[in-house]
Amino acid sequence: MKILLTGSTGFLGRFVLELFASKGIEIQGVARNISFQDSNKQFQTQLDLANFDKVDHYFRDFQPDVVIHNAAMSKPDFCAQFPREAWQQNVEVTRYLVEKTSPSAHFIYISSDFVLGDQGPHNEQADYNPLNYYGVTKQAAELYVNERVGLSTIVRPVFIYGPQLPGSRGSFIQWVATQLNSGNSIKVVNDQWRTPTFAPDIAQALFEIVAKKVSGLFHIAGSDLITPYQMAVEVANYLQLNAGLIHAVDELTFPEPVKRAKRGGLKNDKAIEELNFVPTALRDALTLCF
Ligand SMILES: NC(=O)c1ccc[n+]([C@@H]2O[C@H](COP(=O)([O-])OP(=O)(O)OC[C@H]3O[C@@H](n4cnc5c(N)ncnc54)[C@H](OP(=O)(O)O)[C@@H]3O)[C@@H](O)[C@H]2O)c1
Repeated sequence: MKILLTGSTGFLGRFVLELFASKGIEIQGVARNISFQDSNKQFQTQLDLANFDKVDHYFRDFQPDVVIHNAAMSKPDFCAQFPREAWQQNVEVTRYLVEKTSPSAHFIYISSDFVLGDQGPHNEQADYNPLNYYGVTKQAAELYVNERVGLSTIVRPVFIYGPQLPGSRGSFIQWVATQLNSGNSIKVVNDQWRTPTFAPDIAQALFEIVAKKVSGLFHIAGSDLITPYQMAVEVANYLQLNAGLIHAVDELTFPEPVKRAKRGGLKNDKAIEELNFVPTALRDALTLCF
């Protein structure tokens, strides 16, 4: 079995690449910039997915049996600022990858909770209601995946966090730890509810989906429904840092460039039932992150 993983150098991509490679599965990661220092460099190829001629050649050459499409313009603020690029990267690239993937292959798309609106946590039956342009692009990409003939799976994670792998950017929890370690006070929103997802849990769920050829839509999320402020306090307490430096703010006192759900988050019951998904609790996950 040959697996193509897009966005293999990103925060989530690294965990996915590492897990599949550690199981001896033939996996090739692609991204625009592959670092010479990357420990998994032998599994990665430089490819700009927006260059369709190159993607075409790549598919003819590699002929993947499974495509895990994880690459994206993943920052909602950037998508709002550069909508044309966001549409190209998130929608047109997905459309082209769907087109290039053989009908006999399995296409897996990493989507987002941002395709849904407020009144979460949501199950897989919730209606689309993206609140910002990033969510609009992820919804449009999902629709192309749903139209595909052949085995297809959509995975929606939420507010991904995890250990900082060598050469990778950190997630929210590393930012909190760095600020508190430097004695900086921080403002963190306390009126937006999420179900943060531990990155290694997503990699494990993808492994199950590939191994068992599971199709459909899955919310791959943690079970803790918390605000970023509460999460920051958990980090401070675990690392015995000064939680007094963390100031709870709400959307009105801390306006963000794009709209986000107040009561977001995803329900993971379907994944627990059908994929034997075991979400790691935040407190346990923190012991694996620092
Ligand atoms: N982070 C979250 O909290 C979160 C929550 C829900 C869903 N998601 C979804 O989960 C997925 C992974 O998110 P992430 O935060 O791990 O992303 P990330 O850290 O921003 O990484 C994005 C990856 O995509 C690659 N990429 C982007 N454009 C590309 C292109 N044109 N050609 C080739 N590679 C390209 C990047 O590498 P180069 O820049 O070198 O090309 C990088 O490897 C995304 O689909 C995102 O929408 C994320």
